[in-house]
Amino acid sequence: SYTERADSVLALMTLEEKVGQLVQYSGDWATGASTGRPASSSDELIRQGKVGSFLNITGAAKTKKLQKIAIEESRLKIPLIFGLDVIHGYASTFPIPLAEASTWNPSLVEKSARMQAIEASSAGIHWTFNPMVDIARDPRWGRIMEGSGEDPYLGSVMATARVRGYQGNDLSANNTILACVKHYAGYGGAEGGRDYNTVDMSERNFRDFYLPPYKAAVEAGAGSLMASFNEIGGVPSSASQFLMTKILRDEWKTDAFVVSDWNSIGELIPHGVAKDLKQAAELGIKATVDMDMEANAYYYHLADLVKEGKVDIKFVDDAVRRVLIAKFKLGLFDDPYKYCDEEREKNTLVSKEIVNATKEVALESIVLLKNEKNLLPLSKKLKSIAVVGQLAKSKDDPLGGWSGMSDSNRVTSILEGLQNKVGNEIKINYAEGAKFKGNDKSGFNEAIQLAKKSDVIIAVVGEGRYMNGEAASRATLDIPGVQEDLLKELKKTGKPIVVVLMNGRPLTIPWVQENVNSILEIWNPGIKAGDAVADILFGDFNPSGKLPVTFPRYVGQIPIYYNHKNTGRPYDPNNHYTSYYMDLENTPLYPFGFGLSYTTFEYSDIKLDKSEIKKDESLIVSVEVKNTGSREGQEVVQLYIRDLVGSVTRPVKELKDFAKINLKPGETKKVEFTITPDKLKFYDINMNYVVEPGDFKVFVGTNSVDVKEASFKVIE
Ligand code: IFM
Repeated sequence: SYTERADSVLALMTLEEKVGQLVQYSGDWATGASTGRPASSSDELIRQGKVGSFLNITGAAKTKKLQKIAIEESRLKIPLIFGLDVIHGYASTFPIPLAEASTWNPSLVEKSARMQAIEASSAGIHWTFNPMVDIARDPRWGRIMEGSGEDPYLGSVMATARVRGYQGNDLSANNTILACVKHYAGYGGAEGGRDYNTVDMSERNFRDFYLPPYKAAVEAGAGSLMASFNEIGGVPSSASQFLMTKILRDEWKTDAFVVSDWNSIGELIPHGVAKDLKQAAELGIKATVDMDMEANAYYYHLADLVKEGKVDIKFVDDAVRRVLIAKFKLGLFDDPYKYCDEEREKNTLVSKEIVNATKEVALESIVLLKNEKNLLPLSKKLKSIAVVGQLAKSKDDPLGGWSGMSDSNRVTSILEGLQNKVGNEIKINYAEGAKFKGNDKSGFNEAIQLAKKSDVIIAVVGEGRYMNGEAASRATLDIPGVQEDLLKELKKTGKPIVVVLMNGRPLTIPWVQENVNSILEIWNPGIKAGDAVADILFGDFNPSGKLPVTFPRYVGQIPIYYNHKNTGRPYDPNNHYTSYYMDLENTPLYPFGFGLSYTTFEYSDIKLDKSEIKKDESLIVSVEVKNTGSREGQEVVQLYIRDLVGSVTRPVKELKDFAKINLKPGETKKVEFTITPDKLKFYDINMNYVVEPGDFKVFVGTNSVDVKEASFKVIE
């Protein structure tokens, strides 16, 4: 077994060599602030067995060179493991993960991860710091772009798909990579949406809403996890016995190893639970944070802590064993150079197959938010189109955050995509009009004049690539700069306006919703941005994306999410003493699960195979969905439940299943869901995970608000 093989290596190791396996350093660039590395070169550290892993080193040749030192010049010849943030692609950038979640198509998301693994592994990467599965109910938090949105069920489905895609069926194959579930745990709950900020929530909230995607990823076999930066309930994750020992090891019984986040062990000092780096190392290893990324804590102090009797060697041995098991699973002991084939790298990077897949995902990730009088799809008979906005021409911003290995020269901008699509048939007039930053309105006039001469305006507005992601929280969620002012001026021309939103988080766009004709949420679509957007705008692909996160009207509504509690005084317009804002609506601008199509769908009433089930029985729910429009289209049929009376309060709706179906015009399909006992379980008043007998509602529909409804009962 892997454990036996790992133990056979462990038996040969000195304490210093053991510590070395738990040390990780960054190579060619940094993804965090510098922490003061030991003076020795990377080569020397490898030779001495003082480092077990690197991040941010890429390329078959480069990784081979370092691996060779480990294999030929270190005493024990233990292979290195190379990690990288392959978040939505290596050289070929896919849509950002939030966009991928908008596909509601787990097999497509799995395919994306598979392609990413094939590409990254060819360039020497063994291990990706993904999937990021943090539930986020606050779009001010810039890292919302890296996850799957607000819902634990959708988040779990996407987490599973990504782990499967990265790791494949055989982790020892040379084109699969180890997944790392992050950021464990609760990082998305940062107060005020400010990155790295405090997280505090009840254990019930944590277990019901935040924990499921991590668990799903671990159950799917993820080989590693990353400890998050945040504290939760007063304990920083990198020192949390509760998260690491109790949940991860005792409850989930995983041998996946845990890597810290960048210096997150060192940050136990500013968090205020360690007085110095040595104590931080002690807390980290005792919490079973196995590998120290960049903090130098294990490097400098772990051996001494063991020698002084402050840390039992068992903690070190267990950590090393878990790291070695991962290296065995990857097959690195059998062939340490299996990821270092330059020929394969050359043939794989930006290959047609991978690039085509990025477009396939982009097409399904785009969400149609508004389409007044069916302005979209645009007619190919138009004479001229005004394309405006800095983002329309950008070849950089469509990539989104965490796409460092990409090259913007390979990106099709929205403008290029449109030009390629229409050739000489339609005249495309481009004017920048407004940048996504700053107050400069000097370009407005040119854009307005062009708009006046054109049949339709396509305004590409939103956020620049670095406006979301890590350390990119915002306190306002307006379309930044003067872009919305430009839209207001364009509106005065009376020409129809299509707004194409490029952004990594929900934005607050009530004016846009009210005033323009059509809105397309394209997120950061990746390298084939322009091709995908042009296909959608001209109807060669019917949009089918659905929002994985609620869009607020105003920042003051945040946190706003669909699976909220009812409260003792749910809003009632006829009763003053109810839960509402005097100056804002309670409702979102677009609810969770929302997204339109160029066709229309009609739902039948819900049928249940029984009206009453026992606690351990399942129930079959079915509906018929008909395409009532004139185009073929895909629909995401969503199933929600509500437990009406519990020993503790339950959300007004919870997504429990969905199905993405394709329907030809006039076609009807029956969709069946099985509500298993698992889908009804929650943490009861005594924190037991159970089904409670009682009355339930079940809802099926096109989003979390527009649903059909039925009832059933669960008995003992
Ligand atoms: O994986 C990332 C993490 O998400 C944020 N800090 C740095 C890590 C490594 O780059």
